[in-house]
Amino acid sequence: MNILGIETSCDETAAAVVKNGKVILSNIVSSSLKEHQQYGGIIPEIASRRQMETIHAVVMAALKEAHLSLNDIHAFAVTQSPGFIGSLLVGLSYARALSFASKKPLIEINHIKAHIHANFLTFASDQKTPASKTPGPKLPAIGLIVSGGHTSLYYLKDFANYQLLGQTRDDAAGEAFDKVARILNLGYPGGPVIDKLARKGKNADIRFTCAALEGTLDFSFSGIKTAVLYYKNKYHQKEIFDVAKIAYAFQDSVVSVLINKCLLACRKKKVKTIVVGGGVAANSSLRKRLSNVAADHNINVFFPPLSLCVDNAAMVAGFAYHIKQYERNTT
Ligand code: KG4
Ligand code: ZN
Repeated sequence: MNILGIETSCDETAAAVVKNGKVILSNIVSSSLKEHQQYGGIIPEIASRRQMETIHAVVMAALKEAHLSLNDIHAFAVTQSPGFIGSLLVGLSYARALSFASKKPLIEINHIKAHIHANFLTFASDQKTPASKTPGPKLPAIGLIVSGGHTSLYYLKDFANYQLLGQTRDDAAGEAFDKVARILNLGYPGGPVIDKLARKGKNADIRFTCAALEGTLDFSFSGIKTAVLYYKNKYHQKEIFDVAKIAYAFQDSVVSVLINKCLLACRKKKVKTIVVGGGVAANSSLRKRLSNVAADHNINVFFPPLSLCVDNAAMVAGFAYHIKQYERNTT
């Protein structure tokens, strides 16, 4: 079954064709990110206008890269929520029109849950990123979604049953990276630049802490952002002020709390698999430290390849296939 996925929840306009929920035949992502950078964050109005202009070309490019025509597509999938309403409407309207005109099913899916699905995909042999040699994750698992808009922990019994275990009570982890980068004048998005800078500030003697919210699987990242702001206000004219060390200390604390909550979720649900998704899943420290700690606890941890951590439509198409299979098996 070939599913054509469409994703337009934020600044990316993406389309992909995925075969049988697993093999990526094409994966096209166009982004208006550069236009937003001067404002220090995504401007929804600009994002949706660019999406209207590019959606058709992006979908056509996805079909072309897959060497398929619309006749070879068996179903369509689209991100239904959450996201910027104007952006979502572009993808939704386009996908609904395609489905209506071709009389083929449309599966509307949740963007956050789709991020997790990036771990279950492989690339077709002619795609630029080679297929992973290791077997994919097995459910049940703990799913950690860390992006610019969301930080959530799920218990994944199967693809149709995601139980929310905890989430952020204020800022998302990626949002904290972005806001701290803005405080330190590092530009937008903040995640990649803080990740890089933190390598130079290793083992800094500064400490910032995230609220632990003991005993819960919830997160809070707004306090640490304010702590960085106060630190800057106090020390920015002093000799000890070192942006790399601040980046390291901030990242170290965020990564630690993400790891601790994942382990707690595994203990609570008696699960030995963790799957991570979302933009912050690209963070090198999170990838390394969570993999090491998980190995110490005999837990298997999975991260998507870097190209599938950011918003993309392959994860949408892949997830939709499993929803469809579930519906088929239960009706
Ligand atoms: O999943 P995504 O592309 O969009 C949302 O659904 O939000 O995530 C974007 C977020 C941004 O906040 C960005 O700063 C963060 O992911 N990010 C990172 C890294 N790369 C991107 N955060 C930490 N380390 C990174 N290497
Ligand atoms: Zn996302």
